[in-house]
Amino acid sequence: TVLVVDFGAQYAQLIARRVREARVFSEIVPSTMPVAEMLAKEPKAIILSGGPSSVYADGAPSIDRALFEAGVPVFGMCYGFQLMATTLGGTVDNNGAREYGRTDLTVSKPGSTLFEGTPDEQVVWMSHGDACSAAPEGFTVTASTGQVPVAAFEDDERRLYGVQYHPEVMHSTFGQQVLEHFLYRGARIAPTWTAGSIVEEQVALIRERVGSKRAICGLSGGVDSAVAAALVNEAIGSQLTCVYVDHGLMRTGETEQVEKDFVAATGAQLKVVDASERFLNALAGVTDPEEKRKIIGREFIRVFEQAQAEIIADADSDGEDVAFLVQGTLYPDVVESGGGTGTANIKSHHNVGGLPEDLEFELVEPLRQLFKDEVRMVGQELGLPDEIVQRQPFPGPGLGIRIIGEVTRERLDLLRQADAIAREELTAAGLDRDIWQCPVVLLADVRSVGVQGDGRTYGHPVVLRPVSSEDAMTADWSRLPYDVLATISNRITNEVRDINRVTLDVTSKPPGTIEWE
Ligand code: XMP
Repeated sequence: TVLVVDFGAQYAQLIARRVREARVFSEIVPSTMPVAEMLAKEPKAIILSGGPSSVYADGAPSIDRALFEAGVPVFGMCYGFQLMATTLGGTVDNNGAREYGRTDLTVSKPGSTLFEGTPDEQVVWMSHGDACSAAPEGFTVTASTGQVPVAAFEDDERRLYGVQYHPEVMHSTFGQQVLEHFLYRGARIAPTWTAGSIVEEQVALIRERVGSKRAICGLSGGVDSAVAAALVNEAIGSQLTCVYVDHGLMRTGETEQVEKDFVAATGAQLKVVDASERFLNALAGVTDPEEKRKIIGREFIRVFEQAQAEIIADADSDGEDVAFLVQGTLYPDVVESGGGTGTANIKSHHNVGGLPEDLEFELVEPLRQLFKDEVRMVGQELGLPDEIVQRQPFPGPGLGIRIIGEVTRERLDLLRQADAIAREELTAAGLDRDIWQCPVVLLADVRSVGVQGDGRTYGHPVVLRPVSSEDAMTADWSRLPYDVLATISNRITNEVRDINRVTLDVTSKPPGTIEWE
């Protein structure tokens, strides 16, 4: 593994991803972890991330010199670079030589491991207030800028390297190449971490852990649970039972897709529980969004537990314990829950697996080390179809939070028709990869007057909410081509009885959230 030491900026995750793009496994550790503990992980290399502070600021994080003396190759970036410089005896000045954003870097290649094969002048992304004016002893200075005499230094003997800029960001044109030079040439690591190797490693781990016991996995129809289930199925096959709770709030074709495509691709055992009646009864008369979310979450857990109990009872008759619960937890959740400070609860998110604490299962989380795009690669490797692997996000409470007003069967049917048309046209226009998702929202308590044929209509509006986003934390409304919007609008108003108006939501997040409830 390659350790990325996080000095508290938002850059560590990005660095970890870039290392993995170089097909080398990496994990993030906090800068407060003792060096002995870092070394106990037997890292093949260590990367020191950027950070928000000056090395001279009060309480600025530091690093134990022992890290540089353990014979492990180290690469410092930005703040990590300055820490390396000060810790090893170089000079960092607080002289106002600030650089933020695009900066021209001049590279001196003789003796450089990092810059070989890259241009003498290259654009890099800087973000610093202090500047290194003298490299520590034993280092060769290999780059500079107008403001900073020492913008990179290297010591091939001790295999220590540093750059003042951020090679991990896209705007540093040769950043990935420089990072790969560190990994392959400086640290001499072979790029062997691939979707195939992840599957192989996880399958072996899961087999060893589960043994002859049984496992259960909740499927939501989403990418993460599907890939987690497929991976565990690959490992233990008939010892796994997947449970899919149909709460009746899914879109057209979704339940069938799980039933057919997932099973066809994996051969997994699937128990589908049709609980739509129960959810609709529980939601009757409810219009408050948070109340809807809580009801759906609660009913979900009850139905899921009941299904578990049935599977356990069946398994007991074969004499095998159901001891494991499979979950599709991803790496960003793991990293974030490590450093999470109380953020405002905007909406109570509900996920498959929001299970009570007293549940007596051990968790199997085979995706705990992976980012979303890596999960997709693993899904592909396991033969899951694109319809599952490239699926856009869809909220756990489903269409229940896309009907503004009470949720009824009739309203769900209306929304499903409108939603299916929008999805069909977006797919036909080749826009699925350009947008993050496009909720269609039914304003069920609003009526609007229209005219169709020669008659007056008094129907409901729907809202199209196409958004683009990187991580759903922030989003912008997608500028869809007018002709695609026109086709969707024409088709919905013509084909869906009772919907006589289509509107477009042009709000970014913040201030709007992606979903309307
Ligand atoms: P918001 O509306 O909070 O949505 O901007 C951000 C992203 O999360 C999805 N979403 C959910 N996903 N359970 C989920 O699994 C939920 O309860 C839930 N609510 C919103 C939403 O579709 C968007 O992608």
